[in-house]
Amino acid sequence: MAGAQNYIGIDVGTSGVKALLMDGAGVALADATAPLAISRPRPGWSEQDPADWWTATRSALDGLSRSRPAETAAVVGIGLSGQMHGATLLDADNNVLRPAILWNDGRSGAQCAQIEQACPASRAITGNIAMPGFTAPKVLWVKEHEREIYDRIARVLLPKDYVRFLLTGEYFCDMSDASGTLWLDVGRRAWSNELLAVTGLNQTHMPALVEGEEPAGTLKRELASRWGMTGPVVVAGGGGDNAASGCGIGAVRAGQGFVSLGTSGVLFVCNDRFRPNTQDAVHALCHAISGTWHQSGVILSATDSLNWLAGLTGNDAASLAGRVEAGFTGPANEIFLPYLSGERTPHANAAARGSFVGLSHLSDPVTLAQAVMEAIAFAFRDCQQVFAKAGTEISRLFAVGGGSNSDLWLKMLATNLDMEIHVPQVSKFGGDFGGAFGAARLGLCAATGADPLVVCTAPEIRKTIAPDPALKNAYGDQYARYRALYPAIEKARA
Ligand code: XUL
Repeated sequence: MAGAQNYIGIDVGTSGVKALLMDGAGVALADATAPLAISRPRPGWSEQDPADWWTATRSALDGLSRSRPAETAAVVGIGLSGQMHGATLLDADNNVLRPAILWNDGRSGAQCAQIEQACPASRAITGNIAMPGFTAPKVLWVKEHEREIYDRIARVLLPKDYVRFLLTGEYFCDMSDASGTLWLDVGRRAWSNELLAVTGLNQTHMPALVEGEEPAGTLKRELASRWGMTGPVVVAGGGGDNAASGCGIGAVRAGQGFVSLGTSGVLFVCNDRFRPNTQDAVHALCHAISGTWHQSGVILSATDSLNWLAGLTGNDAASLAGRVEAGFTGPANEIFLPYLSGERTPHANAAARGSFVGLSHLSDPVTLAQAVMEAIAFAFRDCQQVFAKAGTEISRLFAVGGGSNSDLWLKMLATNLDMEIHVPQVSKFGGDFGGAFGAARLGLCAATGADPLVVCTAPEIRKTIAPDPALKNAYGDQYARYRALYPAIEKARA
C-alpha cells in the first residue's frame, strides 16, 4: 500500500520486551516478544542487565520485520513503554555501571526513611510515600554500599529511556515514568532540585523531560535501515507501563480507569489534576498525556496469590478458579489476606505477610481458592476507597490481565466496587490493550501531531459484568471482617 504510515509500540517489561505494530487507523496488526530473566543475587534483590533489554528489543523488532516486512518498513513513529522505577546508572561514556535495580527490589527500605527525613516535604512534592520500589532510594543505597560506582554516575535513566538512548542517542524521560523516580515535582511536572540533592544528584544527571505524546528522539539511521524503514522515524516520550496501558485502554479523561488482574494488581484512574493521598499509600503520578495525572493502587500479589495456592496444592490456577465458579453460592467461610510479598496500597508495608483465617475440616483447595479470589476483590475495594478519600470517583472501568478470564472473579470485583466492569474485545490479531499498544498510539501522536485525547479511544466492549445485588450485603459484611483482620494480625506478628 503506497503511502501507508505505520507505528510501533515497544514495552520494555520485566518478563520480556514486546513490540506491537499498528497501522495509521490505530488498528493493531501484529506483535513480537522476546523474553527476559530476573536475577535475584540475594533475598529481596531483583536486577536485570540493561544489555538484555537491548538484545530483547532488537530481537522483538527483528521478529516484526521478519513477519511483516512491508508494514514494518512503513513505520514513521515509535512509542516506548516500560517497567517503571528501575535505576540504570551510566558513566560519562554511557557505560552501564552495574546491573539495573528493578521496581520489585526491596533492599532500600533504610534509604526511604533517610529521604523522608532529609526532605520532609517529599510526600507533598512527589505524591508518593518513599518506597523501596522507587528509583531515588536505590541510588542512595548505591551511594552507601557501592561508593566507587556512585562516584562515577553521570546519568540515571529508567529502563525504557535506556532503550531510547540506544535507539536514538538521546536522553529523554516522559512525565509518567519520571513520576516513579521520587525526583519529580509531580504537581509542577518538573524535576525537584530539593529531592535530587538528597541523593547527591542534580539535573545534569537527569534526562530532559517531555510529555508522552511529544517527540523525544529520532531512530538512528543504521537501525532504521536494519528494519527497512526509509524515512525519519520519530520516537515519542511514551509512558510508564501503567500510564501507557491507560492510553491503550482509553483511560485518558478524569474518572476513566482500568483494573489489571495480573501477577500484581493495579487499579488505575485518570485525574484532571494532581490528587495525592499518601496517607493511604495511593500513588499519585503524572499521566503520559500533557495536562493529565493519574492515581494507582498497587496490590503486589494478585493472580500471584492464586498461583501460589495452586502450586502449593498441586493444581493449576485456572482450573481452581473454574471449580470455585462451578460450586459458588456466596462468600467463603475462610478469609485470606493477600500480602504474600508485603503490600503497597493501602498499607505501604513491605513486611506484611499473608494469612488464612477461619479454617475448618471442610476447608479444601477450592474453598481456599475462593477466599483468595475474594481477598483480591477486597484489596481492590481498599484501593477504590482510598482514591475516593482524595476526591476521585471512578466512572468507567475495564478489566485486563489473566484473572479477567474468570467471570466469577469479575463479579466479585464488580459487586465489591459497586460498579460495572467491562472486558475489552481482543484485537483482530489477538493482541491485548497493554502498554505496547498505548505506546504505539503515543508514537502516532508524536509523528503526526494528532491529539492524544482523540487517538486514545476505548476498545470495543466484549462483555460487561454487573454487580450482583444478591451478594452486596454479604460481601459488605465479609469486607468489614477482612478490614479488621490486617491491624489485628500485624499487631500479633509484631
Ligand atoms: C508501578 C510498578 C509496576 C512496574 C512493573 O508502580 O511498580 O507496575 O511498573 O511493571
